[in-house]
Amino acid sequence: MDKKTIGILTSGGDAPGMNAAIRAVTRAAIYQGWRVMGIYRGWRGLVDDEVVEFKTQNVSNIIQAGGTILKTARCKEFYTKEGREKAYKTVKKHDIDALVVIGGDGSLSGARIFAVEYNLPIIGLPGTIDNDLNGTDTTIGYDTALNTIMECVDKIRDTASSHERLFFIEVMGREAGFLAINSAIASGAEAAIIPEETTPADQLAELISHGFRKSKNSSIVLVAESKETGGALALAELVKKDYPQYDVRVSILGHLQRGGSPTARDRILASLMGAAAIDALLDDQRNVMIGIRNGDIVYVPFSKATKIKKEVDSRLSTVLHILSI
Ligand code: F6P
Repeated sequence: MDKKTIGILTSGGDAPGMNAAIRAVTRAAIYQGWRVMGIYRGWRGLVDDEVVEFKTQNVSNIIQAGGTILKTARCKEFYTKEGREKAYKTVKKHDIDALVVIGGDGSLSGARIFAVEYNLPIIGLPGTIDNDLNGTDTTIGYDTALNTIMECVDKIRDTASSHERLFFIEVMGREAGFLAINSAIASGAEAAIIPEETTPADQLAELISHGFRKSKNSSIVLVAESKETGGALALAELVKKDYPQYDVRVSILGHLQRGGSPTARDRILASLMGAAAIDALLDDQRNVMIGIRNGDIVYVPFSKATKIKKEVDSRLSTVLHILSI
């Protein structure tokens, strides 16, 4: 294949393992004799022409670092025709033949539109702690976030059981319950309230009807964030009002879930997916996200990855319920 120039960017919410992916894409491309252009601040950097050539040493000593050395942003301008026109001018200016975009749902939706509009080959890597991209079993950053949450819940459990309290712990996920349900299982929590099931109020009523603290001296409920329903704070208020016998506390884990050094699992996943992005370009693939299904790398069309909601396995809730008696 001819010598190519590829551009790489990270976009949307950062996720641990993005740096490992940047490293893998850069090195696998240079290994093929290609040129790599690092685009700073996601789509914003393409609109504003913040582009720097990346050599192998630009990605040295980053595999262990959280965040993204390319920085990231959420760029409203890119979602306008004029913004994308400016972005394409930057692509042309630097002779970029293809892009590798690392990000979540919003970033890959942007990639889908841009790729079609300008007939530009784009390969996506699923980089989000939310694990909400369809067609892949897992996403870069998800395992690290899950481990971070588990460690936090273990700590909260110490104080919850000392004080015999009921804790609502809110985790991220943007309309997806993967982090909440799996961290609930991993930390031995009593329940998880997730958007994929009935309304939070109904799930809460069901929990209360089973009774907290029958034989336990603390209860922990993981709650998936929700702008619509108010998340853990709103649930805690409901309980305080109607069930004053419970000593309720709330903990919102927030952005600490997005930071930290990636786990070995995320570093390996990011490395495999980064190298697979270059294989995909060599294979003349375009407008697909790299996914992993049952241990195999797969190509998932952007529309399938972003437009179809990924299901949470209902067996997880059953197991959580059984194990929390
Ligand atoms: O998509 C990743 C994510 O961390 C979501 O879980 C969360 O809702 C959102 O980003 C927070 O975004 P921001 O960076 O704008 O606070």
